[in-house]
Amino acid sequence: MKQDNERDIIQILSAILDIDQNLTGIDYLKEFIKNIAINLDVKYALIGHPIDAQLTQIQTDVVWAGDDYVDNFMYQLKDTPCELVLTGDRVCIHDNVLVDFPDDKLLQDMGIEAYVGAPVIAKTASGVSSILVLLDIKPMENKNFFTSITDFLALRASAEITQNYIEQNLLEQVSARTKELEKAKEEIELLNVNLEKRVHEEIEKNNEKQLIIAEQSKMASMGEMIENIAHQWRQPLSIISTVSTGVKFKNEMKVLQPDDIESSMDTIYSSVQHLSQTIDDFRNFFKKDKKKCLFFLKDTFEKTFALVDSQIKSADLEVIKNIENVSLLELEQELIQVFMNIIHNSVDELVKKEQGVKLIMIDAIVTDDNVEIYIKDNAGGIQKDMINEVFDSHFTTKQDSNGTGIGLYMSKMIIEEHMHGTIEASNVEFVYDDNAYVGAEFKICLPQLGK
Ligand SMILES: Nc1ncnc2c1ncn2[C@@H]1O[C@H](COP(=O)(O)OP(=O)(O)OP(=O)(O)O)[C@@H](O)[C@H]1O
Ligand SMILES: [Mg+2]
Repeated sequence: MKQDNERDIIQILSAILDIDQNLTGIDYLKEFIKNIAINLDVKYALIGHPIDAQLTQIQTDVVWAGDDYVDNFMYQLKDTPCELVLTGDRVCIHDNVLVDFPDDKLLQDMGIEAYVGAPVIAKTASGVSSILVLLDIKPMENKNFFTSITDFLALRASAEITQNYIEQNLLEQVSARTKELEKAKEEIELLNVNLEKRVHEEIEKNNEKQLIIAEQSKMASMGEMIENIAHQWRQPLSIISTVSTGVKFKNEMKVLQPDDIESSMDTIYSSVQHLSQTIDDFRNFFKKDKKKCLFFLKDTFEKTFALVDSQIKSADLEVIKNIENVSLLELEQELIQVFMNIIHNSVDELVKKEQGVKLIMIDAIVTDDNVEIYIKDNAGGIQKDMINEVFDSHFTTKQDSNGTGIGLYMSKMIIEEHMHGTIEASNVEFVYDDNAYVGAEFKICLPQLGK
């Protein structure tokens, strides 16, 4: 082995440690071992580590032999200087290896004379240190120099192996964490897919339900339509029945005049017209693509009263109208139906009154955005405990006269759902012609011009 002057030690160390800073781990150790062999002029340099805690064998990590690296190998520790290094404290140095370790077959074969070994006390996974070994086929001249420089180099190797271990450990932790995250991501993705599937299924279920509900409501609407037609037909059918019975009776009594036939047929004809109009109205009423049209409220009331004229006259009612000139963009036919339902109800109550004036008062005023329509009578009002139920479907107090309890229910549906307005019922006291009266009042509020 080359034995330099101690004052050159810094220079030698600098040359050995002149290693690219980017190299780490085994790459660093390879350069390190090569630099040691070249700069200290020893034939062999290696770093190895015991493969087990019992220290039976060494596995080399990097080996420089003469002028190049050689393949790593394993060797038995028993009766070798390396065993002393690993079990002893520090540097182990021998010049007569062949004599001191006659059983070390490997060293014998290699013709080794000088041996320097130092333990590399590094933090590793197994916790067992490595070993730095320099071997030469010539004896060492300056043992002190080799002892201290090998000791120092072993420390440097320790630092490298420890750092490598830490980095490796860190990498492993990062990779384990990455795997965990990837697994979590996969689970989340799977969850998302399942969630999407669930949402999809729920949407489909919901759609099916909607279809069923639509179907049911169609059936309910048809039922309502039939009930409504029956309701609207009651009046004209009873007129037809009365008139035809009258004609038959007069004929039997032989008092039937041609004029009677003429006027009776006119009445029957207009009632039939009314019946057929009702069918058309309801067909319109249930049409999906109903169109709103522009009309004057005054005209709508005229049309309504034309339909209920016979009832008004026969009941001897006074109708007082106070309608502002206002136009509406609405479903006029449906509005007529609402007015008729309310007026029919008033007539039903007013005919029960035996004495005094029978009034129906209609007021319509325009506010900022709405048209407010008030229809009231002086029939005494709705029974107090029932006032909240009058709009309920099938609520009626007219069981004796075949009341269906549909009129106000339909009216509310038309005003609120088809026209986005409101309808309320209350009992009011009012003065007309210096007389005080009590009756039911229906207030309808409609957005003006269909706003
Ligand atoms: N002007 C009113 N005065 C007093 N009570 C009324 C008045 N209008 C409605 N009602 C009450 O509200 C109930 C429900 O009215 P609705 O028009 O819905 O059905 P109905 O008139 O009983 O039956 P149908 O309309 O089939 O003849 C009536 O039975 C009646 O008790
Ligand atoms: Mg009614």
